[in-house]
Amino acid sequence: MMTATTLPTPADLSITPRDRRFGRDTALKRLWHGGSVEATANYNALSTTFPKGEAYFVESVRAFRDGAPPKLAAEIKAFTTQEAIHSREHDAFNKRATNSGYDLSKLEKRVEWRLSLTKDRPPIVSLAATMALEHFTAILAHALLANPRHLAKADPEAAELWRWHAVEEIEHKAVAYDTWLFATRNWPRFKRWKLKAKVMLFVTRNFVVDRTAGALELMRQDGVTGIEAWARLLWYQWINPGMFRRIAGAWAKFFMPGFHPWNEDDRHLLRAYEASVTPAAQPAKKVRRAV
Ligand SMILES: [Fe+2]
Ligand SMILES: [Fe+2]
Repeated sequence: MMTATTLPTPADLSITPRDRRFGRDTALKRLWHGGSVEATANYNALSTTFPKGEAYFVESVRAFRDGAPPKLAAEIKAFTTQEAIHSREHDAFNKRATNSGYDLSKLEKRVEWRLSLTKDRPPIVSLAATMALEHFTAILAHALLANPRHLAKADPEAAELWRWHAVEEIEHKAVAYDTWLFATRNWPRFKRWKLKAKVMLFVTRNFVVDRTAGALELMRQDGVTGIEAWARLLWYQWINPGMFRRIAGAWAKFFMPGFHPWNEDDRHLLRAYEASVTPAAQPAKKVRRAV
């Protein structure tokens, strides 16, 4: 049986913050994702969640770092650095989307409101929400890297931002989970599973509802509304390329006994990414070689 002391996170895993900047000198084309209203809206809506969302993740995990074993403590540190840089880059990306004509304020307010829902609950609830959302992020990241079609028509610099983020999400995909295992190491198994499952169902519902509403709002700003907007967005999300459909199986594994994010070792995607990045795009120095 898996315990907090025998974690399946690979012993030789390296969580390496890459301090990169994207698109600071150029304007972002409004329909940067292949000229498609729904593709652009889908990714812009997701990007809107990152600056505040990832700050929340960091805060939720760091609340449990005291007393963590040294390996986990180092991973939390590297995770914190990665998420801080992601927040910075998506903040810059969101400003560029705003400069291209979108009003993201409604979406941002929604994110703030959602995150505020756990503020009066025990910190373990925020950690559970983070762990669930980090699984969500990691399986989205996997799908994004595994199938080049998702970003094939996107603006190259913007696509680079999303790939870079996806790589680091895979690298640190188990940090919140291992922190959760550590924090709940004395809980009975069923109590652990019950909270984990409940929170996953809750955040999934909110994620799908909020991102869909957010994308529809952005499509409205492009003049696409009503049934047409719904049909185009749902087709994009569920059918072609169908990102939500493609992650459904990986999502369901979260509920299985013995689940751990590294049961799926997808580091071949990271190696493929490193091999594809041109030397000029590599950071001059890596921020911190963590573990
Ligand atoms: Fe991130
Ligand atoms: Fe993350």
